Amino acid sequence: MRKVIFLIAATLFLSSTAALAVPGDKTLAFDKSPMGVVKFDGTVHKDAGLKCKDCHNPEMFPKMKQGTVKITMDEIYAGKLCGVCHNGKRAFEAKSNCNRCHVKK
Ligand code: HEC
Ligand code: HEC
Ligand code: HEC
Repeated sequence: MRKVIFLIAATLFLSSTAALAVPGDKTLAFDKSPMGVVKFDGTVHKDAGLKCKDCHNPEMFPKMKQGTVKITMDEIYAGKLCGVCHNGKRAFEAKSNCNRCHVKK
């Protein structure tokens, strides 16, 4: 019986966070770079027609939790993580557009 209650609670918890976490509501700030804070705007990405699994998949950002993946420019330039799209094809290229992501304080 306990197990059943736990499962129900876990399911409710997961579905409620998924509903609240629609990226339209969220802007994440990545502030570890000397180039300036990167603001990741969920609304912009959602409006571009992207689905959760375009980013939340095993190759990119498996967990819906900030800080679980270390993002470096080497990986972005190599076409991984943000660079899967920010390569000048699906979205603006990273190499020539530092300040579209990094904003100086
Ligand atoms: C364009 C890529 C992209 C799309 C599309 C996307 N996400 Fe994310 N999401 C991210 C990244 C990047 C992170 C941070 C991951 C990390 O730092 O490890 C994140 C983090 C999150 C977090 C954690 C936020 C926090 O405060 O810790 C939640 C919740 C989340 N996403 C939910 C969703 C849901 C639900 C969808 C679909 C409706 C979605 N995301 C679509 C890229 C995306
Ligand atoms: C699945 C594809 C995809 C991924 C992954 C992705 N983006 Fe984007 N991003 C887009 C698209 C499409 C746009 C809108 C078109 C454009 O501006 O080129 C966009 C726009 C942006 C913008 C412009 C926002 C504005 O105000 O105009 C920023 C900043 C940005 N992305 C940052 C990031 C960061 C940081 C990451 C990684 C954490 C990331 N993106 C991952 C597809 C993606
Ligand atoms: C698509 C968005 C995007 C663009 C464009 C971009 N960056 Fe980044 N950059 C990031 C993200 C996200 C991080 C991780 C920040 C964090 O972890 O807090 C990062 C981290 C960094 C770091 C620290 C980690 C490392 O790899 O050394 C430096 C330095 C950096 N960027 C420089 C640049 C320069 C220079 C440019 C332009 C030539 C650039 N970035 C363009 C998103 C971007």
